Amino acid sequence: QEQTTLATRNQLFYGTFIYPKTLTDLEYLHNTAVAVDQNGTIVAIERDYDLSQAASTLFPRLGWAPDSVSIHSSLASHNQFFFPGFIDTHLHAPQYPNVGIFGKSTLLDWLETYTFPLEASLSDPAKARTVYNRVIRKTLSHGTTCAAYYATKDVTTTNLLADLCLRAGQRALVGRVCMDQLSPKYYRDASAADSVDATRESITYIQSIDPTGAIVRPVITPRFAPSCSAPLMAELGKLAAETGLPVQTHISENEGEIALVKEMFPAKKIGAKGDTYTHVYDTFGLLTDKTILAHGVHLSEEEVQIIKARGSKVSHCPCSNSALTSGAARVRWLLERGIEVGLGTDMSGGYSPSVLEMARQAALVSRHVAMGCAPAEKENKEQKESEGEKESKAKTEGKTSKDGNAEKETKVNKANKDGIDRERAKLTVEEVLYLATKGGAELVGMKGKVGGFEVGMEWDAQLIGLGRDVADGEFEGDEKEEEGNVDVFGWESWPNKVAKWLYSGDDRNTRKVWV
Ligand code: GUN
Ligand code: FE
Repeated sequence: QEQTTLATRNQLFYGTFIYPKTLTDLEYLHNTAVAVDQNGTIVAIERDYDLSQAASTLFPRLGWAPDSVSIHSSLASHNQFFFPGFIDTHLHAPQYPNVGIFGKSTLLDWLETYTFPLEASLSDPAKARTVYNRVIRKTLSHGTTCAAYYATKDVTTTNLLADLCLRAGQRALVGRVCMDQLSPKYYRDASAADSVDATRESITYIQSIDPTGAIVRPVITPRFAPSCSAPLMAELGKLAAETGLPVQTHISENEGEIALVKEMFPAKKIGAKGDTYTHVYDTFGLLTDKTILAHGVHLSEEEVQIIKARGSKVSHCPCSNSALTSGAARVRWLLERGIEVGLGTDMSGGYSPSVLEMARQAALVSRHVAMGCAPAEKENKEQKESEGEKESKAKTEGKTSKDGNAEKETKVNKANKDGIDRERAKLTVEEVLYLATKGGAELVGMKGKVGGFEVGMEWDAQLIGLGRDVADGEFEGDEKEEEGNVDVFGWESWPNKVAKWLYSGDDRNTRKVWV
């Protein structure tokens, strides 16, 4: 095995640290020292710390010899800060060469036209090595320290993806994709039994190269209901129960897909308690508290209640959902129902490798939901209409007893119903950055381990540098590349600097990455 980038020395980080404390609040720590031991674990956080004291007080307390410590500082003058590494909760490594290539397709024809041919071709180990190395390097350079990957149905190259993640030191869930029906003959498991055997083989291999699962772990991956037979899903559900391994799949992404699932898996035929997409997975034991469900754009209230009861999570993929015109997922609606949500690039349904970009698009999509673009509008409208009928009856009665005020009141109430309800949908800077880090950690089974800076957590982090707040004329011309897009004037508050980073930053601002 080649070395990973796990720390081999004690490290002291000093400067500004920003991380999501809760969904709604970022923590800002300035002049702070964060001590990280040789295992990469945060062992001390000293706020408002005088760094010159470290050698005489902090190191002895930690039992560190001063010459065993590497010191890294974020430079306030360069608007630098440490931020937790990003977590990409859903992407397809073999689809990386196709980013941006989707034309006007929607999910089902996109799979046939663009996706299956490319995935099938990655059973060539040389091609897979090239593509997988690139996707790992690219996502790491955008600050993704942990990723939930789908590979292909091919075992050898799926295992290769795990090898390469381990070598690069990127935490990863790696899933061998199960699909025994519907997809073209050239890219389909021969039988449910073959699919399960191949999955077990890959699980065994991935666990053998990283027995503790600190960096790479296997994940049971039924592609999505249409490409899995009932017996295959049942076996994979059993495997999840037997092994306690996580599960990842797609759900309720696109209307054509949902109609297909209804047609293929009628409740009666599979013995489900209901006829929704969610009931299909639930019937086969695939909804566990370690299940990552990608998309969930068109889920109903009933389905979300089942998902909540099982403790399964949702990976929101805003870029993919816009690119393939799948719909605008209602993240606020999911969060308010207690569903844990993370962000996924879903390359190459999505065209960007950047979780920062996903956070930005999540903010924008939530505004589209606020403008009434969510698929639930129809359902809500029907509900509202029946509520509205009752309401207008009551108001009419009120009007006879009072006067024009009642009419005014009705208008305001209506505006509140349509307007304020929708306003709630908007996600803040803090919220989308939470989804990108701490929220994602819950999806990949790393809650309390990564996604923030707290004693006991792992040092999965990125050093972010924004434009320098220097006087005009101080820049050398060749600094443009290093500075990136974010122009800081010097008077911005830290929350506003973070907002500028979210909305106009990119990988040029990701100066360093640690796992
Ligand atoms: N549903 C089934 N397979 C896929 C895939 O590869 N990408 C997306 N976005 N949805 C899917
Ligand atoms: Fe996907």
